[in-house]
Amino acid sequence: MTPRAVCTIDLDALTHNFGEVQRLVGPDVRVCAVVKANAYGHGAVPAARALLRAGAHALAVTNIDEAREVRGAGIGGPILVLSGVEPAHANEAVRLGLVPVVWDAAHLRGLAGEIAAGSRLPVHLKFDTGMRRLGADDAPGLAAVARELQVPVEGVFSHLACADEPGHTSVTQQLRAFEDAVEAVEATGLRPGIQHLANSAGILADPRTHLDMVRPGLLLYGCLPPPWVGELDLKPVMELKTRILHVKTVPAGSKVGYGWTYETTRESRLAVLPVGYGQGYPRALSNRAEVSLRGGRAPVVGTISMDHTTIDVTEIEGARLGDEVTLWGGTHGPDVMDLATRAGTIGYELLTRIPRDAPRIYKGKNE
Ligand SMILES: Cc1ncc(COP(=O)(O)O)c(C=O)c1O
Repeated sequence: MTPRAVCTIDLDALTHNFGEVQRLVGPDVRVCAVVKANAYGHGAVPAARALLRAGAHALAVTNIDEAREVRGAGIGGPILVLSGVEPAHANEAVRLGLVPVVWDAAHLRGLAGEIAAGSRLPVHLKFDTGMRRLGADDAPGLAAVARELQVPVEGVFSHLACADEPGHTSVTQQLRAFEDAVEAVEATGLRPGIQHLANSAGILADPRTHLDMVRPGLLLYGCLPPPWVGELDLKPVMELKTRILHVKTVPAGSKVGYGWTYETTRESRLAVLPVGYGQGYPRALSNRAEVSLRGGRAPVVGTISMDHTTIDVTEIEGARLGDEVTLWGGTHGPDVMDLATRAGTIGYELLTRIPRDAPRIYKGKNE
């Protein structure tokens, strides 16, 4: 079977980006590398391995399924489970050495009630400081329950809602709310352990949010949350490539693709790519994106369909069947964050939409 889209993942770039984040936060701040959602589409296992080797203190995944995959590959290190662990999986979490996130006292009781005598399941407590998603409203109440149940609390944290909007007042508000929550927790007699707040945008937005540990995802994969620039020398980790499936010449005035949303203004050479939204190349990029090939750029013309995308290669000398085309990433391809903006979405969505079964080729000495 010929793969239609192939992701090349540069593990040296991932390691480099980790180093950039560590440099920015300084050596005393730990880095918990977020590898959830298949490491933002990059492949959880190779990414986790490279990031731990690079010096990550811990990994963060969404749920026990993702943790199983990482541990199943023989990868060590602390694993924070951001969406928590069901009480029914408490003992498996102990065996796997996981650190579930807990934000609800009843859930904590359920978890503690399942843990076999003599076992230990450390947790991080999550407080709501403004995201209004997961997080306890009553931080000291949750801490008191953890104390009562003698559950080891290794850390406490919260999540920033608007750090990607430079100067947004919520960052300071959430930082203050978090500091208040920690103070209230300490007043219950519980030691809060590792304190953390910042995602990628938080790391860039305000060094006061770095605390004991930061939790970057996006930055590690070489993407700067817009509109940030400068500060970090990041390298793209993923390159998404395909090959030309068909080339044809059409006269001026030809209408192209579903809905005839594009019309040629001159005789044109069109190339059809064997990828579409079914392979994670968003339909919203119809008539809005460029791809790179043979050292040049070619526009996407017409509507992107499930399995095919048409590009205009009139200006690309010698373009022919089988030519390699970069949809995004690498050193010359379009920037995934820019494409996401053109598609009216965010880079996270483009990266995580690439099907899990799309071939991923790893390069770099961390391979
Ligand atoms: C709780 C938590 N921390 C950190 C991150 C990493 O975010 P980013 O990729 O923006 O750094 C996420 C991602 O959504 C998250 O949910």
